[in-house]
Amino acid sequence: MPIHISIFVPLRKFAKMSVRTWQNDAYKYVILSVLIKKMQHFIFFIGILCMVFRKDNGKIFSTLQSKKMLKKMEEIVKQLNNTFSNKSTEEVLKYFLKEYKGEIGLSSSLSYEDQVLTHIICSIDKTAKIFTLDTGRFFPETYSLIDNTNMRYGIHLQVYFPDFKRIEEMVNEHGVNLFYESIEKRHLCCQIRKIEPLKRALKGLKVWITGLRRSQSVTRKNMKLVEYDKDDNIIKLNPLINWSEDDVKLFVKKNNVPYNRLHDKGFPSIGCQPCTRAVKEGEDIRSGRWWWEDPEHRECGLHQRN
Ligand code: ADX
Ligand code: SF4
Repeated sequence: MPIHISIFVPLRKFAKMSVRTWQNDAYKYVILSVLIKKMQHFIFFIGILCMVFRKDNGKIFSTLQSKKMLKKMEEIVKQLNNTFSNKSTEEVLKYFLKEYKGEIGLSSSLSYEDQVLTHIICSIDKTAKIFTLDTGRFFPETYSLIDNTNMRYGIHLQVYFPDFKRIEEMVNEHGVNLFYESIEKRHLCCQIRKIEPLKRALKGLKVWITGLRRSQSVTRKNMKLVEYDKDDNIIKLNPLINWSEDDVKLFVKKNNVPYNRLHDKGFPSIGCQPCTRAVKEGEDIRSGRWWWEDPEHRECGLHQRN
């Protein structure tokens, strides 16, 4: 048989059969097309959603989740502020130390304020975590106070150090006193020496106690007793938020709390040695911290992320 007949005869048969099948099932296709038309907006919407989620790798979903979480935490913090804003510092600390036992910690820079808090905390629960972020650039007086505090209260202040590799890189690239050169370099130093160790220190905690006071600086005037720190996903408790400098000094004197001797030499606020200097009588208490920068920038990022 010639080759063209052997191919075209079965093809013609198939074509005829298909047309017949199409005719028999035509009603099904009519119904299907009506249905698709009716649902076209819905199908279009689902298609777009699938495309977005595929491209986004689930980021939208996690953003929605974190927004929900943020709202929930803000609600909890609001309730805690309502409940505790008129209570004494001791009452506040008693509640939180009991309620969050094992999940609460005081960050101490060994300042007047942190020594007051250490004193109160030790009178409630000596096992509570108290830690300091040793930047490697503290004053000798601050190092002495770590030992004195441990002896006086029979505790063991936990010391966190920066990552030595990052310090080496930073110092070798920018020099040991890079912070005087620019805000960016100062932030880099604070980031490596303070903020990274802080993150490690806060791991596993639900509440972070600080010695912040509202009257310390313009950057702190809106702070509250209880806050939610969304960067570290932690409740921040500032029990001394309403205390004045005189309140702190009086408490230290009355209770014979060990304190940094630099406070008697014109240092109302003490941080790292190269970034802190004494201030004159009547000057702003934080004017000795990063004195070469504008007052709005005088935060290291522990409490205000840059
Ligand atoms: S800073 O951000 O400018 O350095 P400041 O010295 O006023 O802060 O201290 C405010 C609070 O931050 C302290 O009460 C303490 O809770 C925390 N803090 C500051 N520096 C340290 C540090 N080196 N180690 C632990 N906590 C610190
Ligand atoms: Fe570095 Fe000064 Fe910040 Fe201390 S306060 S971490 S020395 S920039």
